[in-house]
Formats: sequence, structure tokens, C-alpha cells
Amino acid sequence: MTSLNVPGKIILLGEHAVVYGRPAIAIPVHDVQAKVTISTIKDADANSIYLDAPNVHISDWVHDLSEGQPLREAIQLTLSALNIHEFPAFQLRISSTIPVASGMGSSAAVSVALIRAISIHLGNPLSIEQQSALAFEVEKLHHGTPSGIDNNVVAHEKPIFYSRGEQPQVFIPGERMVIVIADTGIPSQTAQAVEGVRERWVSDEDYYEAIFDQISDLTILAKRAIISGQISVLGPLMNQNQVLLEAIGVSSPEIEKLVQSAQSAGALGAKLSGAGRGGNIIALIDPSHEQTISDALEESGAVSIISTRVTP
Ligand code: PMV
Repeated sequence: MTSLNVPGKIILLGEHAVVYGRPAIAIPVHDVQAKVTISTIKDADANSIYLDAPNVHISDWVHDLSEGQPLREAIQLTLSALNIHEFPAFQLRISSTIPVASGMGSSAAVSVALIRAISIHLGNPLSIEQQSALAFEVEKLHHGTPSGIDNNVVAHEKPIFYSRGEQPQVFIPGERMVIVIADTGIPSQTAQAVEGVRERWVSDEDYYEAIFDQISDLTILAKRAIISGQISVLGPLMNQNQVLLEAIGVSSPEIEKLVQSAQSAGALGAKLSGAGRGGNIIALIDPSHEQTISDALEESGAVSIISTRVTP
């Protein structure tokens, strides 16, 4: 039997700008996980795979799933990459505690977990880079034109500084960071949010490019602050990133209510994370304020709150 977990993620700074070639920072969130378990089925035809994914109500043979179904694609891409055509039948069970449509990398984590588990089960483990590259192909089915940040951060399971089309730079924070993640309860539709920015960018390229440049500057400063352990410098950079995300139209009243609530309750910095228009906000906090900030977020309508730690 093969069983493994892959974490969720948040984007610390740089979302949307990363689609336009600027860098972004993402960190894994181990408090939520996608899990895949594989076991051999004794009395079934060779080369067949049974998929059990209760979260998405799938319990079926993979060859009976419709063509283009992302889980089926992830499995087939992996078998092709491994160049394996003959294998004893097996069952794949997928479960996940990563909230969907909330900017926490649920689809990328499920893909990486599937790809990793199948390659281990079939005796030919793929490298992290190969897992990420295959998951990127599946991300395109989910999100249209993804930057590739989600598949990279969940495959590496480490903080990354990422620019589209380049290998991610894995880095280690100089100090422990505590981040509260609060869900607006409104689904964040990545493809739609990215498409909305694209339409506005087309009609006013100079304005959008200038904002992406400013986001890029913040992200580069943030990387330095994190590596040198200057957490107090990082907070204001996140606040400034939020203002720029509002300017490109990916925030929402619900997001801003939670961001302001965290800031008023003493967060060092707060912003939306991921595609926006809904989904999660993140707040960098001093641990001594954790309870006050969580209470304030709950009062302001957060439907769930996760506290995560990033350690040196
Ligand atoms: O909402 P998520 O977790 O899918 O993150 C989207 C991040 C974007 O920068 C908006 C899109 C991308 O592909 O990088």
C-alpha cells in the first residue's frame, strides 16, 4: 500500500502579477492536506484503476470517467510519463481537507499527491520537478492560464520565490512566522478572476503594468525581509500589496472587512491570498495577538480560521 499527503498553500505576495511575469512568494500550509492511498486489487483485470474520491462524489473505474476529467487526466499523464502500460489493477483513494475554491491550492495538491503516489506505487518515483510539471498540465484544465506557482509550492513543500517559466527558488525564513488564514465563505473562481484582470489589462495596459511593477517591488522586498527574519517589515508590505490588489479589481467588500478587522485587532499585515473576489485573507500576526485577531475575524464573518506557522 502507498499512502501520502501533500500540503495546501497560500500566496504571501504577488498573486495576479505573477501571471504577467512578476515574482510571487508562496508557502505550503501543512495544516490542510490532500491524501492519496493506493492499494492493489487482487481480482480485477490488469491495467485497470478504480478511483474513489468521495469529496467530489466519484467512485468509478478510471476508464469510465469522461475524457478531460482532471483526475483522469492526472492519472493518464502520469502513466504516460512513466511509460508503464502493464500493471496489476489498483485502487486510488483521494481525500482532502484543503478547502476548495478558496485560494489554498486544493487542485494542485490533489494532482501532485496522485502523481507522486502512482509513481511510487509503480516503482518509479518521479522527481519533484517532474511531479510539478505534470500537475501544471492538469492545472491548465482547471484554471486556463495558471502561472505554475501552485503546483510548484505544493510539490516542493517549502516556501518559494517564483517567476513564471523559471525553476522556483526555495528559501528558508530567518524567523518563525505566524499567519492566520480566514475564509470569507465566498468561492474564489481563479479562472474568472484571472480573466477579469486580463480584460481590464487589455483596455489599460500601462496602468496595469505599472501596478504589477509595484507589486513586484513589494515581493522582492518581502523575500529579503523573510530571509533576514524582519517580520515587522513584512507586514506593511502585505498591506501595500492588498491596496494594489484592490486597484486591479480582485478584492471584494467581504475581503476588505476581514482585512480591516485583522489590521484593527493588531495584525502586522493582512491581504487577500490567491485569486481573490472571495476565498481567504491572510494576516501576519504576533503570536501574543492570536486569540484577539481570531475573535475579531470571527465577529467580522470569517467562516473558518486556520492558524499556520512557518519555521526556519
Ligand atoms: O486562487 P489560487 O490559489 O488558484 O491562486 C491564483 C493565483 C493567481 O496568481 C491569481 C493565478 C496564478 O495562476 O498564479
